[in-house]
Amino acid sequence: MVDPQQLTIIWPDGSRSAALAGEPWMEAARRAEQTIPTACRVGSCGACEIEVNGVVIRACIAEVPACPGSTLRLNQAFDPYW
Ligand code: FES
Repeated sequence: MVDPQQLTIIWPDGSRSAALAGEPWMEAARRAEQTIPTACRVGSCGACEIEVNGVVIRACIAEVPACPGSTLRLNQAFDPYW
């Protein structure tokens, strides 16, 4: 049986890792040896924007969402103004 809090993340390079719902995105990235660019780290600049299943979030202030038994596909969000 799948742990309802455990998710699989597919990173932009195609690698996969496990994460827990509620875990900070930056911690999930660190454990997976992935780099999410940052600048302000308080949610105001947008440098850390990632796209999670098509929704853009600011990773420095966001947590892995609850999505029991599912896979989250992550892409780097590109801001033409950044
Ligand atoms: S690092 Fe600036 S919004 Fe996340």
